[in-house]
Amino acid sequence: MDGHMDGHTGLRRRLGYRHPVFAFSWWDPDVAIAASRAGGVGVWGCTRRTPEEIDEGLARMERELEGLPWGVDLVIPAGMPDSDDRARIEAELPTGHVEFVRDLRRRYGVPDDGLPGFRSRFVRSVETAEAQLEVVMAHRIPILALGIGSPAWAVERAHEQGSLTVALVGRPRHAEAALRSGVDILVAQGADAGGHTGTVGTFSLLPRVVDLAGATPVLAAGGVATGRHLVAARALGAAGVWMGTAFLGSAEAAPSETLLARLDAADVDDTVVSRSQSGKTLRMVRSAWSDEWQAPGAPEPLPMPQQDILIGDLLGQVLRHEIEPLVHEAAGQGVAWLRPRRTVAEIIEEIVSEARQVRDRLCSGPSEGE
Ligand SMILES: Cc1cc2nc3c(=O)[nH]c(=O)nc-3n(C[C@H](O)[C@H](O)[C@H](O)COP(=O)(O)O)c2cc1C
Repeated sequence: MDGHMDGHTGLRRRLGYRHPVFAFSWWDPDVAIAASRAGGVGVWGCTRRTPEEIDEGLARMERELEGLPWGVDLVIPAGMPDSDDRARIEAELPTGHVEFVRDLRRRYGVPDDGLPGFRSRFVRSVETAEAQLEVVMAHRIPILALGIGSPAWAVERAHEQGSLTVALVGRPRHAEAALRSGVDILVAQGADAGGHTGTVGTFSLLPRVVDLAGATPVLAAGGVATGRHLVAARALGAAGVWMGTAFLGSAEAAPSETLLARLDAADVDDTVVSRSQSGKTLRMVRSAWSDEWQAPGAPEPLPMPQQDILIGDLLGQVLRHEIEPLVHEAAGQGVAWLRPRRTVAEIIEEIVSEARQVRDRLCSGPSEGE
């Protein structure tokens, strides 16, 4: 695989990583820190963090990752309300939806500890996005990644600060819009992926985005879990891979035992796409949560950010109190290869060394038709 064909060599030189493995994590920055230290590129997803938490996390990443490549991910979806006004959203929630959530709480015995969850601690709004970006830009960030939409103003702002920009795209037209906004790296995220996802599978999306991207490097995301996937992604033209699910069970992510057990038990067909968490289509490991929202008679989830506020407190309490049937997390189809309690460095090392073996085997084997 020639470096000049897929941006691999150029990107590696520019960022200075050893392995073309970008590791996304939205819990504490530990996974991202471990990934960059292991020779990959760690990206901390901080879209659900307050500006103060972001400031603290980034200060830590700057301190611990000096000279290494790393990044931050923010989600700035279009169409959000102007201000962080929870009371206004609560007042407008349909009674039937509120009743459904109340009934879920009662039937599963979820205690109300009066605390919000990660989706309801603040309202996703223009106000919060601007405050988050402000804090991010006050730090020296090697990479700013943008999930769901890559507004040109955010890209310009990042460039002014000397950050490289990454946009996650799930459709050709998203890739075209991101290229128009001037992003430096595209992540072609196929439908297999955990988190917010579209409908086009990674195998179809990736080469299409590579063709559109021209000289802009593309990373492959969605279902990438092994060295075999890494080699396949490179063969389809990707400069590297962008992974999330693979690190969910890692020692650094340290999920609760209940969540780890659910993730560990899941196979490739145990995830579902549901709007029941955020109001947008999100792939998650299947649980009583997704079953309840898909059952006959369940209400249609509300749009973002109303759904966040409708379910946010309950979901936070489900996770905090480990209400087993309902415990779940965003996860992709690659959850089948989850390696519980392995360190991030071990996971990356295993993927990279398997990729080397696969590549050697392919290169030394007989060519097609022989
Ligand atoms: C738990 C979880 C949370 C995620 N949250 C975000 C997010 O906040 N921002 C974002 O750009 N992508 C998010 N993603 C998507 C990842 O960035 C990545 O594209 C995806 O995990 C790749 O596919 P994979 O899960 O098959 O590895 C999330 C993924 C997971 C699994």
